[in-house]
Amino acid sequence: MSAQVINGKEIVSEYRAQIKEQVATLQSKGVQPGLAVVIVGDDPASHVYVRNKAKACEEAGMYSEVHKLPENTPEQELIELIEKLNQSAKVHGILVQSPLPKHISEERVVEAIAPGKDVDCFHPVNVGNLMIGKEGPLPCTPAGVIEILKKIGADIAGKHAVVIGRSNIVGKPMAMLLLREHATVTVCHSRTKNMEEITRQADILVAAVGKAKMIKSHHVKPGAIVIDVGINRLDTGKLAGDVDFDDVLDTASYITPVPGCVGPMTITMLLRNTLEAAERAAG
Ligand code: GUN
Repeated sequence: MSAQVINGKEIVSEYRAQIKEQVATLQSKGVQPGLAVVIVGDDPASHVYVRNKAKACEEAGMYSEVHKLPENTPEQELIELIEKLNQSAKVHGILVQSPLPKHISEERVVEAIAPGKDVDCFHPVNVGNLMIGKEGPLPCTPAGVIEILKKIGADIAGKHAVVIGRSNIVGKPMAMLLLREHATVTVCHSRTKNMEEITRQADILVAAVGKAKMIKSHHVKPGAIVIDVGINRLDTGKLAGDVDFDDVLDTASYITPVPGCVGPMTITMLLRNTLEAAERAAG
């Protein structure tokens, strides 16, 4: 039987409508949530992502400002901008688009962001809070995946969730959030032996590898929920996920399409983090 293709558009628009209402409520109390996005250099794909983030903010009724800096910006200048944004009363969330040019340390930049304004959940304080289950921002892509799973009524507790990929942005925090939902979690990565044996045990399979169409039907247990975090540009110019969608369609019970599901849900979680940061600042 063919898998149900998860309707990302519907989930995202429902969520964003709810956020928009909460933004209006906060604004009626005199606080408009604000996000500052900083981008360094000319990477066209990154500029598209940044535009989408700013547009989503404005559509939700939030204040947004975008700082576009040239490729040769000194690290110190970027850090001074972050320090100014840390002090700005209009800005509740700060996001520095990754990747940064090679001469800039991502680590020093992330650590310059005030933890209360770190809407990516990249700052070590927030990563630590995530580990121990303390309240704070949740990493956007993994949080979006959890919301998608809840929306389709997946019962995560006690299920075997397998995450493919161990990046700091997705794989590691994804495993942590699934653990919080009481899944039994396995993380696979490039050095994993017999990966297929492990992925075939997954009730929930999350692919975050960055390799187009790598996950085939033989990696998937019949009836598994397959969440595709990958966005890869093919030679044809088309976008493809890490999962070979057509191949897996008849094996999975649910599958996310790429593009149009995890990507927009990630931005939705960015809006949620910005709203929550503004609510905390408003007291
Ligand atoms: N580049 C690609 N994805 C992300 C993200 O979620 N946050 C930031 N800051 N940069 C990114």
